[in-house]
Amino acid sequence: MKAHIESLVEYMQYLKELGCDGFPVQSRPGQDRPAAFSVPVPGDDQKLSMENIRLAVEECRKCRLAGTRTHAVPGEGNEKTDIMFIGEAPGYDEDQQGRPFVGRAGRLLTDIITAMGMTREEVFIANVIKCRPPDNREPMGDEIEACSPYLFRQIEIIQPKIIVTLGRYSTTTILGLSQQTRMSDLRGRFFSFKGAKVMPTYHPAYLLRNEKDKKLVWSDMKLVLQELGRPVPAAKSR
Ligand code: URA
Ligand code: SF4
Repeated sequence: MKAHIESLVEYMQYLKELGCDGFPVQSRPGQDRPAAFSVPVPGDDQKLSMENIRLAVEECRKCRLAGTRTHAVPGEGNEKTDIMFIGEAPGYDEDQQGRPFVGRAGRLLTDIITAMGMTREEVFIANVIKCRPPDNREPMGDEIEACSPYLFRQIEIIQPKIIVTLGRYSTTTILGLSQQTRMSDLRGRFFSFKGAKVMPTYHPAYLLRNEKDKKLVWSDMKLVLQELGRPVPAAKSR
């Protein structure tokens, strides 16, 4: 049985989330356990809760990255937030800790969020890819295809007003654009996705190498604050 279900009550709740009202659950031929005991993945059922997404991601083996990860990184923050920040994939520190954006690029993202007058706890931070690609290589197409349903379901649950896509993979995955599209052609204006306004901007890891572009990201974040009806902090040089 699934390790995280410890009581009959929990199991009944779990079945309900999967769209079943109760027993009996049929075993599939050749299976020694009921189908509903396997870890849910988007596609099996579109109504996964945030908690079940987390459980599914932590046990997911849908792509090769399951073989090299230390910890999967489902994403974290406030489910009731107006704004999501979406990155590419976990790096070394994220893989060690199971949390998004906690390394060097993460500190810069945290600084950006703070400069916007918000905290990490009040926003939601996630990645397109939930497990670290070895040596921080770029995600492959089949990995994005396998993993992105988790992110899409997270967006569906949160229904944010604003999605800030950080870098090319995040932006092109959300907007369904060619990965060859240049960030300089995309950033700085709103797109729409499922009722949210999407602001593409440069990835913090890129900003660590291209400091001069911090001011462009800050100008993008000012547009985001205006759209949210939040105060725009005075002159900020980042
Ligand atoms: N870069 C990302 O895209 N995501 C993280 O979580 C960390 C670094
Ligand atoms: Fe599953 Fe995504 Fe991890 Fe691949 S990267 S194993 S699809 S959670």
